[in-house]
Parts: sequence; structure tokens; C-alpha cells
Amino acid sequence: MALLIKGGEVVTADARLRADILVEGETIRAIGSGLAVPPGAEVIDAAGKLVFPGFIDPHVHIYLPCKGSFAADTHSTASRAALAGGTTTYIEMCGPNRHEDALEGYNTWKRRAEGASACDYAFHMTVSRWDEKTEAQLRQIVADGVTSFKIYLAYKGLFGLSDDEMVQVLRFARGMGVVTAAHCENADEISRLQQQFLAEGKTGPEWHEHSRPESVEAEGTARFAKHIEATGAEGYVVHVSCAPALGAALDAKRRGANIHIESVLPHLLLDKTCAERPGIEGFKNVMSPPLRDERNHAALWTALDEGLIDIIGTDHCPFTTAQKMEGRDDFTQIPNGVPGIEDRVNLIYTYGVQRGRLNLCRFVDVLSTRPAKIFGLYPRKGAIAVGSDADIVVYDPGYRGSITAARQYTNNDYNCYEGWPIEGRPTIVTVRGKVQVRDGVFVGEQGRGRLIRRTPRPA
Ligand code: URP
Ligand code: ZN
Repeated sequence: MALLIKGGEVVTADARLRADILVEGETIRAIGSGLAVPPGAEVIDAAGKLVFPGFIDPHVHIYLPCKGSFAADTHSTASRAALAGGTTTYIEMCGPNRHEDALEGYNTWKRRAEGASACDYAFHMTVSRWDEKTEAQLRQIVADGVTSFKIYLAYKGLFGLSDDEMVQVLRFARGMGVVTAAHCENADEISRLQQQFLAEGKTGPEWHEHSRPESVEAEGTARFAKHIEATGAEGYVVHVSCAPALGAALDAKRRGANIHIESVLPHLLLDKTCAERPGIEGFKNVMSPPLRDERNHAALWTALDEGLIDIIGTDHCPFTTAQKMEGRDDFTQIPNGVPGIEDRVNLIYTYGVQRGRLNLCRFVDVLSTRPAKIFGLYPRKGAIAVGSDADIVVYDPGYRGSITAARQYTNNDYNCYEGWPIEGRPTIVTVRGKVQVRDGVFVGEQGRGRLIRRTPRPA
């Protein structure tokens, strides 16, 4: 059925205009004022509403093995959560560890999503070792439409690469036209500090940040950036949490390195005192890089507003309270990561746009258009344009409500933003022309989501 979205203010990364949008089939057919209603079309009254391109979360973990169990979301639950919050495409970290076969891992991750996701999705492929098989396997994975790799400088022995391996991956990625995302923390320094604190009897979640200080992230970021410059590869620093790491990435950018910068929701809104809360509350707020001293927020928001930070993702990791409490006697055993896929758009709208920290076009850019451009989804995604996928969010800036785990689609038993007021919410969310959410409620088709295959961009 055709859809006519009438009378809203269309907001893209570079313009705001009052216009109607006609959707036929899966794509946007026309944009203009006073468009006629085609026979049988559903008319969506968008007067007083903002109309955005579907939002893209470029950093999520859904199928996430951890210490013999799994984080709680499936693609069914995570995609409904994403859609309720206005995210119509996510890019999942496909994450086999260095003891597993990369290609088998890729196929496992793919199977988990097939027929389950209600929104579109793609994958970043984690490269957790480099050996004689790796190159051939990665060629197959790239040929299947995966044009971004993920590497870890942290988590030595499980996901972490040596510097020699990192250079091999970057040279290969450059030749293939693939962007490499990196988790930049110095693994050796973290191990040394963790052992020191545990030996001193410092076992609680409040010690997590001290074991991974800002200097550890800044060093990892500078080292990754140095290798990006030396190899001429395209890099993407994930979850930059603090001013020193941001500075290291920006220095490289200024020298001409082809490097993009991501920050994630928790680092913009939460701070290290959340992990210092008593009882189970502290455990819920453990992630890596850790939540930082609040003084970092201003540096991150300013860099976002100025376009120096490219993207806001979530690093969605839906561990339950019970899983978090596995680290009750040893903070190094707390599963790292917090959920956020459902709340990113509303929280950034409320605490970014509504508080004057981010203008509306930058809001669209950091949450939709730049992820689409950097990760090869544009202009199919990340745009309101004739011929683009009809992934559209009709957004009510007059909505007032608050966040609570009791009403969330995300499959876990807490929300780090419990009780936070929100000032805005999607009223209609479409995926390729089909309405999947009305007024915060998933009304769509589970399994509608498609794997979006991308094309590499060799230099
Ligand atoms: O704490 C986090 N971020 N866990 C997920 C793994 C990662 O580093 O992205
Ligand atoms: Zn992550």
C-alpha cells in the first residue's frame, strides 16, 4: 500500500523543509508540497511533527556470547526495541574470538538474524587473529557484502590483536576497500592495573574505571591512528569516551589520517559515579572504555556539534543484572557493556537537541546520515530522497514521558536511564515502506528485516 506522509517538517543532515513524502512499495517516490493522495494510500498526518530518515545504529551487540551464556536480546527483541526508538537499521558486531573459525562465526551470526529481525541490518566482521586462513576467509565475507572490520587492541588472548596482526589487517583492509573499526585500549596496561587492584583487595565495580584510565584509551587511540596513517587504511575509532582519546584521534585527523570518530550514548550522558553506586546499581554501569569523569562530557558534545565526532552509536550490550553480578567478587569478571538501542534517539533528542547542544540537522547527521555514508549504506539509507529506502521516522517533539525498564522492548531487567524524562518520541516508524511502529508500539512484521549487503570502496 502507498503511504502519503503529509504536512511534516522534513529534516535531513543539511536542510529543513515543509514537504509531503509519497512512498510506493519500498522506496520514496516523491517529495513536494501538496502531493495528491493516490487511490488506496494511507495518509499519515505529520502536521506539527518532524520527519527524519530512519536512524542507524552502527555499533550494537545482539548475539553476544559471554562466559558460557549470552546477552539477553535476540534479533526479535532487539529489533523491536530499535524500531520503537526510531532506529531502522543496525550494524551488529559479528564477534568470533581468536580461538574460533572466522567464517563459521560469520555464518553463525548471520543465521541468528535471518528471519528474526524486524528492521534492516548489516555486520562488521571482527578479525580476532591473523593467520594463513584469515585472508581467504575475509575475502569471502567481504564478497558477501561486509565492508567493515572490527579489531580490538584490548581483550588480549580473546579478541585482541598484536600490533603486527593489526598492521596485516589494515594493509589487507586498505587493499579491499574496507573500513576498520577499532576498540582502542592498551591491553597490557589494563592487565597490570587489574592485577594490582585485585591484589590490594579492590574488587568492586568502582575499580573498573581506575583499571582502564583515560591514558590507556588515549595511548591505544594514538597507536591505532599511527598505524592508520602508516598503512593508508580507513579507520574508525569506536566509543571514544574522554578528551585525551578524542585529542589523539583529532591530532591524527588533522595530520590527514583517514579516520572517523564514534562516541556512544553512555559516554555522553552517564559518568563514572554511576559505577560507584552501592549494591547492584554500580555493576549495571560497567562498560569499556569505562564511564568517565563528567568533565569529559563538554569536550564530546562540543566535538559533536562541530562535526569532529562523526557518529553517536550505542554499543548496545543487553546483559541482565544476574549476568552482571557474576563479577560480584571480582570486577574483572563483570560482563562489559550496557544496553541502549531503544533509547539513543530519544535521549539525544532530549539532552542534545532540546538542550541546545546539537542542532537538528547535526542530530540527523550523527544518528543517520554519517553512519550510512561511512559504512556504505548511503543513499539507500540515511537520506530522505527519491529512490531511497522508505525508512522514515515521524517524530513528535511534543511528547513527554520517561524511560523505564518496565515498558521496554529490550530484553533485560534494567535500564541505565531509568526514570529519565524524554521530550520527544517517534509516532510512526517505517521500514522500506511498511509501518512497523505506531505511537511507541511495535505493530509490524517480525522478520521483515533484511541483511543489507554493501559494496567495498577500494582506493
Ligand atoms: O563494554 C563494552 N563496550 N563491551 C562490548 C565490547 C566492546 O568493546 O565493544
Ligand atoms: Zn562494542
